[in-house]
Amino acid sequence: MVPILSIPGPRGPGATRRILKRLTCTGRLSEVIAVARVKRIMIQAPETAQRWRRTVRRVQVLEEILTQVIAAVQSGVPADRRLAELLRSRREIGARDRRFISDTLFSYFRWWGWLRAWGIADLMGAALLASLLDRPASGDEGRAMSQRCAFRLPLDALKDLHRAALGRKAELVAHALDLRRSPLPQELLPAWFWEEITVPESREVGAWQERLVNCLQTRPPVWLRAPAGRGAELAERLRAEGLPARCHPRLPNAVGVSKPFPAVDLRRRTGIGFEVQDLASQCAVEILDPQPGMRIWDASAGAGGKTLQIAERVGPEGWVLATDIRPTVLRNAVRRIAAQGLKNVTVARADVLAADLPGGAFDAVLLDAPCSGTGTWNRNPDARWRTPREAPRRFGLIQMRMLEHVAERIRPGGRLVYSVCTLTKVETLDAVEEFLSVRADFALEERIHPLVERRESPLWVFPWMGPCDGMFIACLLRRG
Ligand SMILES: C[S@@+](CC[C@H](N)C(=O)[O-])C[C@H]1O[C@@H](n2cnc3c(N)ncnc32)[C@H](O)[C@@H]1O
Repeated sequence: MVPILSIPGPRGPGATRRILKRLTCTGRLSEVIAVARVKRIMIQAPETAQRWRRTVRRVQVLEEILTQVIAAVQSGVPADRRLAELLRSRREIGARDRRFISDTLFSYFRWWGWLRAWGIADLMGAALLASLLDRPASGDEGRAMSQRCAFRLPLDALKDLHRAALGRKAELVAHALDLRRSPLPQELLPAWFWEEITVPESREVGAWQERLVNCLQTRPPVWLRAPAGRGAELAERLRAEGLPARCHPRLPNAVGVSKPFPAVDLRRRTGIGFEVQDLASQCAVEILDPQPGMRIWDASAGAGGKTLQIAERVGPEGWVLATDIRPTVLRNAVRRIAAQGLKNVTVARADVLAADLPGGAFDAVLLDAPCSGTGTWNRNPDARWRTPREAPRRFGLIQMRMLEHVAERIRPGGRLVYSVCTLTKVETLDAVEEFLSVRADFALEERIHPLVERRESPLWVFPWMGPCDGMFIACLLRRG
């Protein structure tokens, strides 16, 4: 039944008949029916009408916020940053509405490649279709959104869309909307991306690409890193809080949670000081393999995610120097280090390209370099459409210079781990090859891949291995 007209007030067949008769006499009822093309009119109880008004309001707010976030993304601002700003300035929006807005917004960017291929320019139509591709529409919200669409979306025909496989999804939409095109999975990412990546040898290109797209269309779990040896305990306490949590079978301190949750609150409730850190990122430190007593330089430490993991491993006899060019992120690193009570870390603002550090000062260096970030497009789908096609080449040049600068600070026999959360060739295989061509005293070292337990050099963490972010990790040994 379509709630086109709501008649709150007296219920019962007599009252209904009287109201309908009055509307028919004045001509208003026939007009409403003609416009809505419905046979029946719904008589809503006052509480239903109130709920409906709230839903309509929620959808209006969604439309306002979506419009502003899309404009921000078009000018290069990350969607999550703009969304957070808008929500901060609109305290009246409750938790449920925030989740609805954020889910719909990220679905919109996730499926934008197809929405564009289908030529769906209408904002609400695109947002509703994108949501249906990801999850079942809640009855009221689906109806309220469809009333604001410029075209008719057959909600019933599309109610199981979220369950269908990728190829089938495209067919179902094309059929339901009478569209000529069923776009390819590859169109969910920008065309330049496919020109920039290499498919591992021995893999069939189309199938490999489809697997990658499939993973990037799904938000991976949030990965936590428990203090050493407490992964199973953390997972158990999280499950007791009603969260679907599981330890990674090969990295037992890594706990995946496939449902959003408030981290600060849970740290207090579980009594376990975990860190939020993606599985791929945890792998980079596994490859670095910090040992007690080592001196390690985390050269682009950001907010210190990997610094904390390294500091725990080198222990009180070891030392970590954490540097970054951005003071704002370093402030977060300092806060997190203090919260963990770590005394073996020095945090300093420094540009890797100008850092004045003695040669051979470190047993190991981690260069978790700035990159185009294509491996995180599962969590930040808007980045697919914000990242300019020249980004991989631009970062490739910076990464090469950073590699050359940090190399000299490693003692002979020491290790340089180069990691980037991207899958483009120029920032990964090419960067390492070029580095090795100018530093003959370094060589790639084979290491056991922490997630697949195979010896590899260099290592790829593909999103399906977690599921997690995509990452490239090269372990380079300085000859003694
Ligand atoms: C991928 S992020 C690092 C993330 C961090 N390692 C972590 O685990 O959270 C790359 C970092 O490189 C930093 N960066 C970029 N250019 C730099 C430079 N020339 N010197 C030092 N840091 C730089 C950025 O500020 C950014 O925080």
